[in-house]
Amino acid sequence: MSKIQDAVVDMYEQLPVPYGLVRFGVAPDHPEVKNCQDKFEEVAESARFNYIGNIKVGYDVELAQMKPHYDAILFSYGASEDRKLGIPGEHRPGVFSAREFVGWYNGLPEFQDLAPDLEAGDQAVVIGQGNVALDIARILLTPVEILRRTDITEQAIQALSRSKVKSVKVVGRRGPLQAAFTVKEARELMHIPNVAFESIDPSFYPPDIKKLPRVQKRIAEVLLKGSNDALENSQRSWGLSFLKAPKSLNASTSSEQLSSITFAHQAFASDADPFSRSAAVVPIEETSTIPASLAFRSVGYKSTALPGLSELGIPFDTKLGIIANDPYGRVMSPAEGPGDLTAGHVPGIYCAGWVKRGPTGVIASTMEDAFTSADVIAQDWESGVPFLNSPKNENSTSGLGWDGLKHEVIKKGARPISWADWKRIDQKEKGRGQKVGKEREKFSSVEEMLKAGVVG
Ligand SMILES: Cc1cc2nc3c(=O)[nH]c(=O)nc-3n(C[C@H](O)[C@H](O)[C@H](O)COP(=O)(O)OP(=O)(O)OC[C@H]3O[C@@H](n4cnc5c(N)ncnc54)[C@H](O)[C@@H]3O)c2cc1C
Ligand SMILES: NC(=O)c1ccc[n+]([C@@H]2O[C@H](COP(=O)([O-])OP(=O)(O)OC[C@H]3O[C@@H](n4cnc5c(N)ncnc54)[C@H](OP(=O)(O)O)[C@@H]3O)[C@@H](O)[C@H]2O)c1
Repeated sequence: MSKIQDAVVDMYEQLPVPYGLVRFGVAPDHPEVKNCQDKFEEVAESARFNYIGNIKVGYDVELAQMKPHYDAILFSYGASEDRKLGIPGEHRPGVFSAREFVGWYNGLPEFQDLAPDLEAGDQAVVIGQGNVALDIARILLTPVEILRRTDITEQAIQALSRSKVKSVKVVGRRGPLQAAFTVKEARELMHIPNVAFESIDPSFYPPDIKKLPRVQKRIAEVLLKGSNDALENSQRSWGLSFLKAPKSLNASTSSEQLSSITFAHQAFASDADPFSRSAAVVPIEETSTIPASLAFRSVGYKSTALPGLSELGIPFDTKLGIIANDPYGRVMSPAEGPGDLTAGHVPGIYCAGWVKRGPTGVIASTMEDAFTSADVIAQDWESGVPFLNSPKNENSTSGLGWDGLKHEVIKKGARPISWADWKRIDQKEKGRGQKVGKEREKFSSVEEMLKAGVVG
């Protein structure tokens, strides 16, 4: 908006409330991370920005319906699915995806009926070793008195206060030098009161860890030093287990409920440097089975195609789970004819965020990436390349944006939420939170959100 004079931006959001994973992904005990909302607020205050909440693009409003009313459309709808393991038992009771569990404790309406049974046993296993895996381990192990002061849902607090989980194992298919988590998150787990760390085998590291690249060296120091509390004096513990790929999620003979997990052991490939970040592993004969009453699949999120993309000539790469784009966010389509040389920009179509880059990256890097996409739109506009309204596309734009659509969309039964409506929801959540000594008590159903958005 600052780079194109008079540009108006309509932002569609499927939920009544904004902020995506910042609200529904970022762990509740990391409130400082949510400061990026301030930047958002600043933009939203502009008279040239419209927030259109509670409208799901591709469902409540079709892309083909939108196209005549805009010069450009930027897709930034994140990753609303997760990667599957493709192993037996993945759907049995007691097995959850990280996305479901994180959404549950953060108040995402879709997962409020998840009802994870935290009383079923004392060992939980997290499969995958990224930062989301460590978030889950931390939420399961942190004393409820600490979590209670955050914006975690009351429902999650109730369940966590009854939890019988005493040990959390975070299992990776490669080694500690290949794990995806970062040092800050590992260190935090080491400092949870009354939680011990099960020490790791130092042979995973070279004799002199000082020679490791800085990032790996710092993680190695934290893991080798371990926790403040010793195992024998602690009520709870966590551990990292390496070179184990999940093979099956098993139930006991008497019920369908998860009772154990079998792992196929891995070894570094013969031509791999085991101290390299990218070292590959291969399966070996050995397997092992560990008891588990809860398992969390934390192996990454996944973006999917929105209905109507292909009608607009927008290619979705199902393998990478992204909208095909040049590195700057221009959506690229292989034009007629063979080979990449004929690939061209789909006029007026751009992308940003996880649907552009894949489901990795922290908020800072995602924002940087989005700024690049925005700069590219401004550059293209300045340089006069075709947009959606180009006569070359045999198409013209009404220029009305949401104003040209809302009548029809509302007539179909949708109930859009404005920024002012959201601010009312926000105030009410903060008010509810204040009563119980927390930043906010989120509304966790769409109905409650809509009700709170009404004036009065
Ligand atoms: C569990 C978890 C914890 C994280 N914690 C941190 C952290 O502590 N620090 C950090 O820096 N990064 C963290 N990240 C990473 C960070 O959240 C992401 O980098 C960032 O949110 C990605 O932004 P995005 O806009 O691509 O996707 P999202 O944040 O997911 O935003 C996409 C938005 O699109 C909406 N949407 C989807 N489909 C439609 C549709 N059809 N119509 C309309 N709207 C739609 C969604 O509701 C959502 O609001 C975390 C990620 C996860 C998964
Ligand atoms: N506090 C924070 O800053 C914070 C918190 C949460 C999330 N985030 C960010 O959000 C992004 C997403 O995090 P994420 O944890 O979902 O993803 P991630 O960082 O990509 O980690 C995924 C993990 O799953 C493993 N994995 C993938 N497929 C597997 C399979 N089939 N079997 C076993 N293991 C498998 C990966 O191992 P391989 O390496 O072997 O593939 C990796 O350990 C990351 O960029 C992360 O840093 C940041």
